[in-house]
Amino acid sequence: MAFDRSLKVAPSILAADFANFGAEIEAVEAQGADWIHVDVMDGHFVPNLTFGPPLVKAIRKHIKTVMDVHLMIAPVDPYIDAFADAGADILTAHVEAGPHIHRTLQAIRGAGMKAGVALNPGTPASAVEEILDLVDLVCVMTVNPGFGGQKYIDMTGKVRKLRSMIGDRPVHIEIDGGMDPKTAPEMWAAGADVLVAGSAVFRGGSVSDPAPYGDNIRAIRTACDTLV
Ligand code: DX5
Ligand code: ZN
Repeated sequence: MAFDRSLKVAPSILAADFANFGAEIEAVEAQGADWIHVDVMDGHFVPNLTFGPPLVKAIRKHIKTVMDVHLMIAPVDPYIDAFADAGADILTAHVEAGPHIHRTLQAIRGAGMKAGVALNPGTPASAVEEILDLVDLVCVMTVNPGFGGQKYIDMTGKVRKLRSMIGDRPVHIEIDGGMDPKTAPEMWAAGADVLVAGSAVFRGGSVSDPAPYGDNIRAIRTACDTLV
């Protein structure tokens, strides 16, 4: 996976039909998704539960692009090997999930995956300053994690700071939460390159009528293209 700072739209399957993940993923990829974003929640680090490594492993074979796994769990370390075995390309842990993010990121890379670190809205950019050489992706949460369909919280200043801290390093900036054609352009302009979108991609479509997925992805992309 060569480093690429062009705009990428990463639909979150949190907004897909949970009874039909394989077909949903194939449909949204056929409609132009760049990555597939997979939200793992533990009912402890965040107040919601989704699924764990066996489900992630089962959907792997339906993903042709990049499987981007966002862990909203604590602790992380006991599950790293299971997510590597499940086939995650990128594994992202929250900086708030434990006292030893440095060790966690080393372990993720050690298990053969790209390493990501996520920041809750209340966590400053400086929290990741000392670990930028250990990561391939910084995920800026623009909602408090746990649920899809929440209202976007403006994090433009944080994204600009991160963009300047990252400099020439091959590190993606991903935005997660409330991304749609209105909110995405300012994040792209501030230096983000991966835009996660759940409800804004899956709304209006279905496996039997997937064209709206493509329209929704193109709407985000066009809004960003026309801004800069
Ligand atoms: C929130 C998740 C997000 C979520 C985004 O905790 O990490 O990935 O699915 O959903 P939308 O795009 O609906 O805000
Ligand atoms: Zn997410």
